[in-house]
Amino acid sequence: MTTKSSKNKRENVLSVSGLKVHYETSKGWVKAVENVTFDLERGKRLALVGESGSGKTTMAMGLMRMIKEPGKIVSGSIEINGKDIISLSDTDLRNTRLKEIALVPQGAMNSLNPVMRVGAQMSDAIKHHTKGKIPKNDLSDRITELLNSVGLDERVAQMFPHELSGGMKQRVAMAIATSLKPQIIIADEPTSALDVVVQRQVVSTLGRLQKEIGASVVMIGHDMGLVSQFADMIGVMYAGKLVELGPSIDIFKKPRHLYTRLLISSLPNLESKKQFQGIPGLPPLLIDLPEGCTFCQRVEGAKRNDGKDPEWTNIGEDHWVALCNDCVDLD
Ligand SMILES: Nc1ncnc2c1ncn2[C@@H]1O[C@H](COP(=O)(O)OP(=O)(O)OP(=O)(O)O)[C@@H](O)[C@H]1O
Ligand SMILES: [Mg+2]
Repeated sequence: MTTKSSKNKRENVLSVSGLKVHYETSKGWVKAVENVTFDLERGKRLALVGESGSGKTTMAMGLMRMIKEPGKIVSGSIEINGKDIISLSDTDLRNTRLKEIALVPQGAMNSLNPVMRVGAQMSDAIKHHTKGKIPKNDLSDRITELLNSVGLDERVAQMFPHELSGGMKQRVAMAIATSLKPQIIIADEPTSALDVVVQRQVVSTLGRLQKEIGASVVMIGHDMGLVSQFADMIGVMYAGKLVELGPSIDIFKKPRHLYTRLLISSLPNLESKKQFQGIPGLPPLLIDLPEGCTFCQRVEGAKRNDGKDPEWTNIGEDHWVALCNDCVDLD
C-alpha cells in the first residue's frame, strides 16, 4: 500500500484508480462502488471493512472482473502488476485469474458443488486454469499438498461437501483459490457463519498461506477487531466509497473519519466496560445519492452537503481520508 507520492519507490501488485461499479435497476443506477482509489503493496494485507451493503463484495467482484449483469464497471482502472485488467481479452483474463488474482467468494462454503467429491472439484478448477496441462499423478499430489496446506487431511479429497464442517469447507475454498499460487488473494468474509474459535483458525491459515506463497491479500470483513489482528492496512468503506485508508495501527490509534471512529467505538470492550455504542441511523440506499459527504447525510447535526464530494486526500504516511470538514478530525 502506498501513497501516490511514494509510488515509485515501492512495488504495487494492485493499483485501483477511480473505480466505479454500478448496477442498473428499474429504480435507477445503484452506485455500489463509487470512485475508489488505492494501491496494494506486494506482500501486504489489506482489510476492507464496512457495513452490509457498503459495496465490499461488488469491489471484490470488480477486482476479479467478475461483475455480472445488471452490473458493470462504469469507469476507472484496475492494474495487476502494471497490467490493466479491464481491457484484457477473455482468454487473457482466464489466464490471470487463479494465477495472478484469486477469490475466495462470500459464502464460499455454500458454493461447493454438493454432488461432487472435494478432490474432483479442486482438480476441475486447476485443469480449467491450466488448460489441462498438468499430468494426472502430479494433479493428485498437488491436491494432497493443497489440502495439507490448509490444515486438512488428504482423505478430505474423497469426501462430499455435506460431510465437512463449515470451517473445513472454508478451508477447501482457500485451497482452491491458492492452487496456482496467485499473487493476490481476495477473501470475501472468509469467517462469516463460523464460530469464534474457527474464525481465528481460518484467519491464521489464510495468513500462513499468504506468507508461504508470498501473496498479497485483500480480506473483506465486518469485524474490525478480527481484521485488525490480520491486516497491515485497513480500508473503511461507506456507501460505496472508501472514506479512510491507513496502516491498521494508525487507524486504531487515531481514526480520522467519524465513521471509522464510530465503527471502532462500537467494538465490544471488556476492559473499559463502556456502554456499547452503535452507529446512529441507517446506511443510505445507493440509488440517487445526493452529492457531497454521504456520511454527513446520516448524522444528525452534520452540516456539509454543499454538493461537492469530499476529496480523497493523503493526510500522513499511507494514510488517506475522504476529506469532509464535518466528519474528519485532523487535530
Ligand atoms: N445484482 C445486483 N443488482 C442490483 N443491486 C445490487 C446487486 N448486487 C448488489 N447490489 C447492491 O449493491 C450494493 C452493494 O452490495 P454488496 O453486495 O457489494 O455489499 P457488501 O458490502 O458486500 O454487503 P454484505 O456485507 O452484506 O456482504 C447494495 O446496495 C446492493 O443492494
Ligand atoms: Mg458482501
